[in-house]
Amino acid sequence: MSDFKHMLLIDRDDAAGAVARLESERELAAAAWAIVHSGALADLAATESEVVNAVAEIPVSDTAELVSEIHLGGDPLGDAFLRLRSPKQRRPLGAVYTPPGIVEAMVGWIAGREQPARVVDPGAGSGRFVLQAGRVFPDASLVAVELDPLAALLCRANLTAAGFDDRSTVMVDDYREANLGSCDGVTAFVGNPPYVRHHQIESRWKRWLTATAKSQDLPVSALAGLHVHFFLATLLAAKPGDIGAFITSAEWLDVNYGKLLRGMLTDGLGGESVHVVAPEALAFEDAATTASVTCFQIGSEARSVKMRRVAKASDLADLSKGRRVSKQRLMQKKRWSPLLSPAPPPPEGFVELGELCRVHRGAVTGANAIWITAANDPELPARTLFPSVTKARELIDAADGVLSSLRSLRAVIDLPADLSELDKDDRELVKRFLRYAQRNGAHSSYVARHRNPWWSVGLRSPAPILATYMARRPPAFVRNLARARHINVAHGIYPRDPLWDDALDTLAASLRSSVSVAQGRTYAGGLTKFEPSEMERIPVPNPALLVELSS
Ligand SMILES: C[S@@+](CC[C@H](N)C(=O)[O-])C[C@H]1O[C@@H](n2cnc3c(N)ncnc32)[C@H](O)[C@@H]1O
Repeated sequence: MSDFKHMLLIDRDDAAGAVARLESERELAAAAWAIVHSGALADLAATESEVVNAVAEIPVSDTAELVSEIHLGGDPLGDAFLRLRSPKQRRPLGAVYTPPGIVEAMVGWIAGREQPARVVDPGAGSGRFVLQAGRVFPDASLVAVELDPLAALLCRANLTAAGFDDRSTVMVDDYREANLGSCDGVTAFVGNPPYVRHHQIESRWKRWLTATAKSQDLPVSALAGLHVHFFLATLLAAKPGDIGAFITSAEWLDVNYGKLLRGMLTDGLGGESVHVVAPEALAFEDAATTASVTCFQIGSEARSVKMRRVAKASDLADLSKGRRVSKQRLMQKKRWSPLLSPAPPPPEGFVELGELCRVHRGAVTGANAIWITAANDPELPARTLFPSVTKARELIDAADGVLSSLRSLRAVIDLPADLSELDKDDRELVKRFLRYAQRNGAHSSYVARHRNPWWSVGLRSPAPILATYMARRPPAFVRNLARARHINVAHGIYPRDPLWDDALDTLAASLRSSVSVAQGRTYAGGLTKFEPSEMERIPVPNPALLVELSS
């Protein structure tokens, strides 16, 4: 064991000064090695040795202050790392470090359930979770797995300075292939798996995900982010009774690729609870991502999972809270966020919008620069030009929620599937346009390749009510008296059975006054999106009440 445990505590200001004096990653590595070299974690991985050999010449004088700060529960080395390596540079490895309050809550939840013999921190970074676990579980062995050699070195320094080095292992490895070995007692898996989107994940790892999930009879999408890979690797490494808590982004609750994780939680991974931090609260200082904490116990026979939405990260403190939702119900749902807070029943006299109307997305052109033009473009036949809402702003700015004129709108070029319908002059114009469109790649966009023929955008008929669906404000519901078409910047609301104009006016007014952003799906930073199915769940007056209110 190192001697650092016995060092005198030093003033926190001195420690802050020591951190500020670290001006490069090289100086940071040198300071970390100065702490590590005399302890039990000095046997480095090859990639870490490269880092250390490259900084051998750099003098280090401030370790006492750093060690003291680590003793006090701080992470001066991790803080310096975050300062010296920009968020952009950290993105490929998804390196975002967890605030101490969240780390304490997650380790605290485990302590309330088990006294683990071993704690594993996957993607440990500077080791915030494994350090907290070292403090809370004095007898547990500690395992940190980290791919980035500099972060791993910082983790070693932290464990050494805290005096946990003789019961710790730092593995500089990819977590998905790290051999954790076995443990007789309970293992706790706790941490913040890296947030890396699927297009930055190597194809061999996507193949690993697909093959491994299939072998476990789990539904899979290769589009899953790296955090889903970490959950799967944990399921493989764990045994019944092992416990865990991970913090990740919250998108997996609703998107298609999240089905693997949702499947694991309702099955072998043993979901215990899911806590989502309101997106506008931004749980992580330097990353605009949603956050959810997922607690699990392998093989748990609990028939329900506690689900909870909290307004701010500090509300995570007690992770035993939550509203029970049966696993059976969760299994039936493709989206879990509506289950975080119960939907109130529609008030007396109200029904869901979907009972009265269908909500349809607008057409996707595949290349707006080509398919949208001036409403009176002389290069095309007038009958192929459809004045359309092509920007959400055109609805947001509609006076009194009514679009009464087509005058300011641009047109979408929507050509007939059968060009022989056009007379000779019109056909010549269209052919010339199609040659231009092809030269500019309009025929080869994903959307064009998946419609038949590629030149027919396929606008829907004018919707009597149009709605924006993605903004930092509630949707704008607009009566479309001008009979404009719309593209995918808006949803069209189409009555299932004909409704009188007065009733449509009342319906639009009711939608405008009753919808809050809370009803949509909110992304980090408070951007709210209403899918058509979500819009169809908005309570509106039933037909009888509509008539009454319209008269
Ligand atoms: C979100 S950060 C969390 C760091 C730390 N646990 C914390 O919460 O403060 C994820 C960490 O995983 C590491 N990482 C990325 N890919 C990895 C992989 N395949 N195997 C192991 N670690 C990985 C990153 O370098 C980064 O340090």
